[in-house]
Amino acid sequence: LLVVVQSLAFSTTNKANYSNKKVASPLTADDYDDVVVKSNRVFVAGISQTCSEETIHSTFSVFGTIADILIIGQDDAERKNKRKPYCFVTFDDLSSAQRAVASSSSSVPSSPPSNDDNNNNSVYTQIQYSKPIDSRRRSNQSRVEEAGKQSQIEAYTTETNLIVQVQSTHVDRMVDYLHCWNDKEKGEQNNFCKVLGSASAISRNVSLLYLSCGNPIDLGRILGVDPLLARAINKSYIVQPGLLRGNLSTEQGCSDFAKMLFGKVSSQTNNGLNDGNDEEEEPVVCRMQVFPPKYQSRLLQLVYDLVLETDEESRQFTISPKRFTHMLSVVEAYQYKGKGWEERQHDDNSKLYMVGISPASMDLDVVDTNNIITGDSSGDDVSRAYYKLKEAIGMYEAIHGALPQDLHGSLALDCGSAPGGWTKYLIEHFGCKQVYSIDPGELSPSVMKLKETMHMQMKIQYALPKLLEDEAVASDGGGVKLWVSDMCLHNMAEQVELLLLAKEEGVLAPNAFFVLTLKCVVGHSKLAYDAQVKKVVDKFFMDANLDCVETFHLFSNRSGERTVIGYIK
Ligand SMILES: C[S@@+](CC[C@H](N)C(=O)[O-])C[C@H]1O[C@@H](n2cnc3c(N)ncnc32)[C@H](O)[C@@H]1O
Repeated sequence: LLVVVQSLAFSTTNKANYSNKKVASPLTADDYDDVVVKSNRVFVAGISQTCSEETIHSTFSVFGTIADILIIGQDDAERKNKRKPYCFVTFDDLSSAQRAVASSSSSVPSSPPSNDDNNNNSVYTQIQYSKPIDSRRRSNQSRVEEAGKQSQIEAYTTETNLIVQVQSTHVDRMVDYLHCWNDKEKGEQNNFCKVLGSASAISRNVSLLYLSCGNPIDLGRILGVDPLLARAINKSYIVQPGLLRGNLSTEQGCSDFAKMLFGKVSSQTNNGLNDGNDEEEEPVVCRMQVFPPKYQSRLLQLVYDLVLETDEESRQFTISPKRFTHMLSVVEAYQYKGKGWEERQHDDNSKLYMVGISPASMDLDVVDTNNIITGDSSGDDVSRAYYKLKEAIGMYEAIHGALPQDLHGSLALDCGSAPGGWTKYLIEHFGCKQVYSIDPGELSPSVMKLKETMHMQMKIQYALPKLLEDEAVASDGGGVKLWVSDMCLHNMAEQVELLLLAKEEGVLAPNAFFVLTLKCVVGHSKLAYDAQVKKVVDKFFMDANLDCVETFHLFSNRSGERTVIGYIK
């Protein structure tokens, strides 16, 4: 990569820093006047035709969480202008953008070398700040950038039939989850799921995933009721491929859109949503969900008025929030946010929407997924932790198949167990005959009362020698077969060291199964966290005889946490 990083709006007053003209930037020295900090976005010039989004992501995510990457100039159509491709990397926060520019401004890059797809000796060769391009050029650039984004989303929407609204921090994990799901379901009843892409929506915290699936109704429900996904997914919308133009934020736009929507839904319902029975049919009753929700009541009222204007006899559909048979979804798929956005906000055709009507299930479509998690009577903390171990084991079993029978009914040790979710899971899922539940803190009464729980109210370092005196551990063929540890230790390597100590002391049975939470305390990017965990796991491999080890970033993990699972022989 010949990469020049230019903050689109970066603060500096020192012209001398920017006098080097060898860079592939079209800017002149006059461009380097005082610039005001106001953008999370950096401009990367001179990328190759084959440089992938992954390469750019891995290069720049060391500086912070990336919200968006837009590559321009790699499409055939775009190549016509003969300019080398370039891209925009938008970070979640300004400080990350600053770090990207700052670290690249020295001749020796502070970031790890980033490999181009087919070129291994590429790093930042020269970096300099630049003033934002003059307003005319910036507006062109912004137009190109927006046009790229818009055409990308338009392309997604030709195939999209399910849109999932997710927390931006969970997009990567959600995409991984869907890939796994797709692999698992491969070929079964046309149950495929293709992730077309994602885009941030309303705010940077919320993203939309555009999916094309064989059975959007079933997949939407599976996603909606899975407690593991509850913290990642806000909502799913079944939509029909295709777009409607409009603008729900203005009164006129909303009214025009309501008419368009009414026409579309009427013709769909007329064409036999009711199953094509010849007999006279009741109108289809829809519950409406609009994203962003702030336009829901206005649109709902307008559509309902149109319904009331039709005479009852010929009414094809009606709206009811409670006794509905169908779901009517309206999702803003794209909103122009480029140059002149403020003025265009009032343009009644400036936004793109996807809509869809699908059979609904009263139970599922109004379900509050939070209840699935917190509905457990033994308390939020216990059930939240319980689902973390459940998710971990589920992920592991998805790769390696069901865990061996000899773990069932075995001796387990839960290190750092309070309030007790993992202990409870070990007892319920593995039917452990005894769980040494070790924590200086209190266990929840609901876990304490289980006869298999043996709470040792002390630190693991003190518990290990005591365990050696325990008959069940010390006897022939005894030992702990299942070791789980969810301690949030400042030094994550200590999690591994304690397990190795237990092995050395003879507390573990041969080929014990382990689950460890490793928590990173340094860094701020996915790449940095992954690298720290990998270092600890690599050392673990050198220090012990391990088998079938997997590292997961679970939905239940925080952004800096990973779960490591495997066998220690
Ligand atoms: C995140 S909580 C564990 C939650 C638990 N997995 C559950 O299912 O409820 C971490 C626990 O580790 C415990 N802990 C920290 N250091 C410890 C040590 N050296 N020995 C034992 N427990 C420790 C803390 O007291 C805390 O209760």
